[in-house]
Amino acid sequence: MSPRPTVLLVNDFHPETIQKLDEKFQTHHLWKLSSDEKKQLIRELQGKCEAIATASWMVDEVIYELDSLKIISCFGVGVDGVNFKVTRSRNIRVSNTPDVLNDAVADIAIALVLATTRNIVNADRFVREKKWSQGPFPFGMGLADKTLGIVGCGRIGEEIASRALTFGLKIAYHNRSPKDLPYSYYSSIADLAEASDILLCMLPGGEGTRNAINADILKKLGPAGIFINVGRGSSVDEAALAAALQKQHIFAAGLDVYADEPNVPEELLEKDNIVLLPHIGSATAEARRAMGQLVIDNLDAYFSDKPLITEVS
Ligand code: DGY
Repeated sequence: MSPRPTVLLVNDFHPETIQKLDEKFQTHHLWKLSSDEKKQLIRELQGKCEAIATASWMVDEVIYELDSLKIISCFGVGVDGVNFKVTRSRNIRVSNTPDVLNDAVADIAIALVLATTRNIVNADRFVREKKWSQGPFPFGMGLADKTLGIVGCGRIGEEIASRALTFGLKIAYHNRSPKDLPYSYYSSIADLAEASDILLCMLPGGEGTRNAINADILKKLGPAGIFINVGRGSSVDEAALAAALQKQHIFAAGLDVYADEPNVPEELLEKDNIVLLPHIGSATAEARRAMGQLVIDNLDAYFSDKPLITEVS
């Protein structure tokens, strides 16, 4: 029997998948090691290990010290954690897990739209703190005929849009170029923000979109505006967002992603006109299992010299 191929696992991205990987391959658990131990392990794996499995948004840079590295099988669709300068220059192949998480992320986007427009988290607190008998809870904002502006309308954005239509929302979007979609297209984020009641960011992160949502954009969204981010935290200037909430340049915000996860800026934590989630967009049992299977399938394809199932070009 030929020996099981070696795979270096960078983080504990999904325990069920980690267990399957442990059964199928000869694995090493990088996240359990100190930084000296990591370097030592990389030295030991030189020439013996070609494959890495990692959360797509959290790739430990130490992996690039592995000269024999040939494939990074990512768990997640957004590959902003990957250093493409290195992978391209060394022909290291990268795969991700698109599509299988679209429903889960679109659902959480709509959950944030409802939580912010109807002030759900504070309403729950209002009941628990026994304030209900002292007076009515402030009114929320209805969705029918309001405009949802999607910044970065890819496959997940389209799922969000189709759900939003059932709430009577009108859809507008910004991409680098228009798509064949029956929604209003805006060539600038600023113009989209101005036209939107709710601005929802689905940008993929990375240098190209760093701080794309800044103080000017938030000002354009206006004092009744709601800002939602389910893309990547690096696309938002978090200090500007905190200031916009403080000065009521916008009404409320809902975030699932942050620039430096799991650290959330104190100035956001202390506000009550923001709903904060711990990056759970794709965190359903079904989506995470399907993502894990794709990580395994891409590694299997690599080790049997077949085309990768979902290679990032
Ligand atoms: C992804 O896959 O990129 C998501 O952000 C995970 O929730």
